[in-house]
Amino acid sequence: MSTPVLTAVAWPYANGPRHIGHVSGIGVPSDVFARYQRMAGNRVLMVSGSDEHGTPILVQAEKEGLTPRETADKYHRVVAEDLRGLGVTYDMYTRTTTGNHYAVVQEIFLALHRNGYIIPKTTTGAVSPSTGRTLPDRYIEGTCPICGYDGARGDQCDNCGNQLDAAELINPVSRINGEKPDFVETEHLFLDLPAFTDSLGSWLSTKTGWRSNVLNFTKNLVDDMRPRPITRDLDWGVPIPLDGWRDQSMKKLYVWFEAVIGYFSASVEWARRSGDPDAWREWWNNPDARHAYFMGKDNITFHAQIWPALLLGHNGAGDRGGQPGPYGELNLPGDIVSSEFLTMSGSKFSTSRGTVIYLTDFLRDFGPDTLRYFISAAGPETQDVDFTWDEFVRRINFELVNEWGNLVNRAVSMAHKNVGAIPRPATPSEADAELLATSRAAFDTVGGHLEQSRFRAATAEAMRVVSAANKYLSDQQPWKLGDDPERRDTVLHTALQVVSDANTLLTPFLPHSAQRVHELLGGQGTWAAQPELSEVDDLDVADRRNAVLTGDYTAEQARWSSEPIEPGRPLSKPSPVFAKLDTALAETGPSWAPIPS
Ligand code: MF3
Ligand code: ZN
Repeated sequence: MSTPVLTAVAWPYANGPRHIGHVSGIGVPSDVFARYQRMAGNRVLMVSGSDEHGTPILVQAEKEGLTPRETADKYHRVVAEDLRGLGVTYDMYTRTTTGNHYAVVQEIFLALHRNGYIIPKTTTGAVSPSTGRTLPDRYIEGTCPICGYDGARGDQCDNCGNQLDAAELINPVSRINGEKPDFVETEHLFLDLPAFTDSLGSWLSTKTGWRSNVLNFTKNLVDDMRPRPITRDLDWGVPIPLDGWRDQSMKKLYVWFEAVIGYFSASVEWARRSGDPDAWREWWNNPDARHAYFMGKDNITFHAQIWPALLLGHNGAGDRGGQPGPYGELNLPGDIVSSEFLTMSGSKFSTSRGTVIYLTDFLRDFGPDTLRYFISAAGPETQDVDFTWDEFVRRINFELVNEWGNLVNRAVSMAHKNVGAIPRPATPSEADAELLATSRAAFDTVGGHLEQSRFRAATAEAMRVVSAANKYLSDQQPWKLGDDPERRDTVLHTALQVVSDANTLLTPFLPHSAQRVHELLGGQGTWAAQPELSEVDDLDVADRRNAVLTGDYTAEQARWSSEPIEPGRPLSKPSPVFAKLDTALAETGPSWAPIPS
């Protein structure tokens, strides 16, 4: 049965190039999942985009002397190119500054407002005493009143994960100039979260399959909900579509309120560009669709609490009731797949701490599949993982090159040299049958892990097939069977069949090299498709061009099953698919990210 699967990937801020920490918890796992789902015959819609409002963009703009829009334009392009290079198969990677996004956000806001879930309140806002300008929450730092962590931000404490009000911080200071902010009264709109206590609670009680970190965290959040402000004193953001608010240049919708709506607006944009503007309904209105969200652990609140609350409110399904908005009843998240952090020498991978491995450098020197393999096999799936060059070199040289690369090379070389084509098998021996059964069974095992986003286990199981095939070749020694060509050809045929199976099993993880192995086995055409970056006109705003990542994945041949290889299909002399890394890298690191001595 073919299921519509929405693969929703957290939107990166357009405030700088991506580093490998950014993609380890989000880009790679989501793409492995999406590719597997497509191979399994499901109808995948994979959406994301650049998050272009909010203080991270303002901070960067200030640093570079650019306007927020110039900053967003510059880095949206950079980030989109980074993700293309990694081979993330988005159907629509767009941005939050499109006319389409603004319009969809405002419709959802109005539906929530009509249903009574948005309420005005007077609050205290921070102002810089020296400039008189408002200080967004994120610009303020202080001690968390809940856990005592002294690097808490005005909107959130990264240590205990609680949402904060800047005014609650102990010893608040401005991150811009260190001064103590003044707090003044200001009016804002709030999402009435307590009105979702029952509806969110009963939705959560159906989510038994989530990773326990997400489930426990979310249950705690939902136990004690307070109204959350969804507007900010800023001039960069989506305008508030209400009389009295629309024209205030210093009031905009809060970035997190509108960015999460991007999952839906990007689906609408994809549909509008596909020629069938209602095509998104198959994923959003159909209760049988599956929705999987991928993000880092610092994003759980917004995806497992705020976004479902917005959807419930839009649908008129919160505790205050109401009517569905113009889009009809929209589906809530199904799976929330949150990963931990990739750290370097123990610190969170972040540009601000000076330990940066930029994706573009990495891809240039090592190619996308080594990173995809490392992250899939050893990434921060359920706990923080410290990235070391030593471990990277070990995984690539001993697993990817010695095990998988070698198997492909040995099997194809011998068949090419002795037969020049895929050999014809005779009656299989017990050992042949056993190996073939192992590799056939792996489709269920690996697929089962991938269904549940258990990427490390999935990689390990796929690599078990590779090891079994290597052991088989060592046991059968086809190179010594020159005087028994029939047996030799049967062994080589068996080995190549398992190379083909293992290549299929590894395709979600290693799509670029899978294409090459497909060709080494004599295959033609697109085995694993790749995304494309293009420039398009904004659908709604005149004279604005946007870079988008899209792709045509329909021509892709990869299917999640063991396909019999064809005896007689010509083989050419193979060249190695993977190159060994210089072991010095383990000690020195690359020149652009040297290991400090
Ligand atoms: N830009 C946010 C971050 O990097 C993630 C936004 S996810 C979204 O933490 F869906 F809200 F856009
Ligand atoms: Zn805290």
